[in-house]
Amino acid sequence: MTLCIRVPKASAEDVRKRLISSGILNTAAKIRTDEDSILIPILSDSFENYDVTDADLEPVHREETDYRNIADVPDELKELLPNSYDVIGDIAVVKFPDELIPYASPIGNALLRTQPSLRAVMMDLGVKGELRVREIKMIAGAGTSETHHKEFGVTVIVDPAKAYFNPRLSTERMRIASLVRDNETIIDMFAGAAPFPLVISKHSRPSVIYSIDLNDDAVEFMERNIKLNRMKNIIAICGDSSAVIKELPPADRIIMNLPHSADAFLPDALSNLKKGGTAHMHKITERATSPEYVSELVAAMKEKGYAIRVDRMAELKTYSPTMSVYVLDIVKE
Ligand SMILES: C[S@@+](CC[C@H](N)C(=O)[O-])C[C@H]1O[C@@H](n2cnc3c(N)ncnc32)[C@H](O)[C@@H]1O
Repeated sequence: MTLCIRVPKASAEDVRKRLISSGILNTAAKIRTDEDSILIPILSDSFENYDVTDADLEPVHREETDYRNIADVPDELKELLPNSYDVIGDIAVVKFPDELIPYASPIGNALLRTQPSLRAVMMDLGVKGELRVREIKMIAGAGTSETHHKEFGVTVIVDPAKAYFNPRLSTERMRIASLVRDNETIIDMFAGAAPFPLVISKHSRPSVIYSIDLNDDAVEFMERNIKLNRMKNIIAICGDSSAVIKELPPADRIIMNLPHSADAFLPDALSNLKKGGTAHMHKITERATSPEYVSELVAAMKEKGYAIRVDRMAELKTYSPTMSVYVLDIVKE
């Protein structure tokens, strides 16, 4: 039985609104008609001068949206459940601490139940090696880890088990696209499945984007994505970008999304960047010493014969308790 007030039909809507603004409408039960009055569930003992009664009201069925509330893991481990995870197309990629690994399957199933758009859930075991490929393991759902991810009007086909893809960089990709002027020559030195070239080609008008990656699988996705999105100005190239870039025409803009070691490739990029052109270089560095990192980089490039200035350095995400991933907009002077 649920505590409620009996209200004449004519004033029911006004009373309901007053209950909401007073914070005492009981939203866990459904309002219902009883002859010529309306029974409205309340959370307090009384409301104004209305008759208070107990009635059999149907409970409101609410779909749970937070997987942490239904994941079948011991109570003492619940606080370890991650509050965020990556969604790539119709798969979720979740990283969790070792203590939760025995509960991977209930965690995956809880995610599938609360997020109906998901087809499968993968456990993230970390990004490895030069090709930055993620080791992942299916913990719930069906099918393979290949998926179609939609972002700012383009579709990126990718398999995170075969090629790196970071859905959290979508805003950065759009930022770069908005900077591109008509007829630019652009090089993406570490393109993966080509999300930067696709978003740029969709939203601006460069003359050509050379999209390079060392990983054969990434280049295969790149080629499928160029075809699927009907992009006419993206050229997929498989190879080591430090060698490939030497064969390409000078660029107005170079994208360098290899945050562990992109700075080692900066001299190669600068050798093929037009004067006044920009390199967007991703870099993991200590937060506390990030200004020093910039001055050291400028000095190191000067020693190699390149004058540069850093127009912008922005934090993209936290990497560890003391380090972050940054993007630096580096202009060749
Ligand atoms: C962090 S991922 C970036 C992928 C892509 N830009 C994205 O946003 O999804 C770095 C990529 O660089 C590629 N890579 C690493 N070393 C390379 C090199 N020397 N030349 C070309 N590609 C390289 C890896 O295979 C990987 O796909």
